[in-house]
Amino acid sequence: MNRTALVTGGYGGIGRAVVRKLLSQGFHVFAVDLKPSVKNLPEEISGSDGKLIGIVADVSDFDSCRSMAEQVSAAGLGEVDTIVNNAGITRDSLISKMDYSMWDSVIRVDLYSMFNVTKQFVQSMIDKKFGRIINISSISREGNVGQCNYAAAKAGVVGFTKALSRELARYNITSNAISPGLVDTEILNSMPRDVLEKMIRKIPAGRLAKPEEVAALVSYLASDEAGYVNGEVLNINGAFFF
Ligand SMILES: NC(=O)c1ccc[n+]([C@@H]2O[C@H](COP(=O)([O-])OP(=O)(O)OC[C@H]3O[C@@H](n4cnc5c(N)ncnc54)[C@H](O)[C@@H]3O)[C@@H](O)[C@H]2O)c1
Repeated sequence: MNRTALVTGGYGGIGRAVVRKLLSQGFHVFAVDLKPSVKNLPEEISGSDGKLIGIVADVSDFDSCRSMAEQVSAAGLGEVDTIVNNAGITRDSLISKMDYSMWDSVIRVDLYSMFNVTKQFVQSMIDKKFGRIINISSISREGNVGQCNYAAAKAGVVGFTKALSRELARYNITSNAISPGLVDTEILNSMPRDVLEKMIRKIPAGRLAKPEEVAALVSYLASDEAGYVNGEVLNINGAFFF
């Protein structure tokens, strides 16, 4: 195995599960997160085949991503051939109560990050004629009450993903999106408990997804075998649709 992945939001629920999964498959992994404790992740996740490095960066900021990419090249773990654009936030509110900063921060973190991070590594993937880009969208891209900021960003992720797939397929680079339903992570803590319980009752599977289930799909899309899956949006939602 001679593969190197970069996972944004690598200290969060889904990100951490993805980091563990890819490491167990022998990838070297860069976990990127706004939380400084991401630097301690290598001590928290031990006994894996690949090497892990935690980098603090703000994916909503292009300059921060440029400096993150410099740290990646200086680390000597090989060039990044797999990007998992996973960092995301919610700032839910009906539009009547949504202020500009709630709109702006979600669009910046959830959508601008796609460009800010991908741009740092895409030329080397083109040169190498190999790459895997995996972007985390959401079931909310279909439009969910109280999430016009998040829905717009996550629908934008799909447009970005599909355009990239058509631009880059000739270089043996795939670009796919994963669209989870509700996954058991901290991001759900901002949702009132009664609203969350009502939503869980509507999920035919009768439960939230585990982060590891999303990580399994990431690992498939990152694999050599998935080379002809390109420009897709893979739902993982326990048969739940709005
Ligand atoms: N949990 C769900 O129900 C669910 C459903 C659909 C989609 N998603 C998406 O999955 C992705 C991962 O979410 P999660 O559920 O693991 O949430 P999480 O809150 O556990 O993890 C998100 C991580 O992103 C990091 N982050 C936030 N802003 C950042 C920034 N500016 N720069 C760098 N890192 C930043 C956070 O510090 C955190 O570690 C997100 O894109 C989210 O929108 C989650």
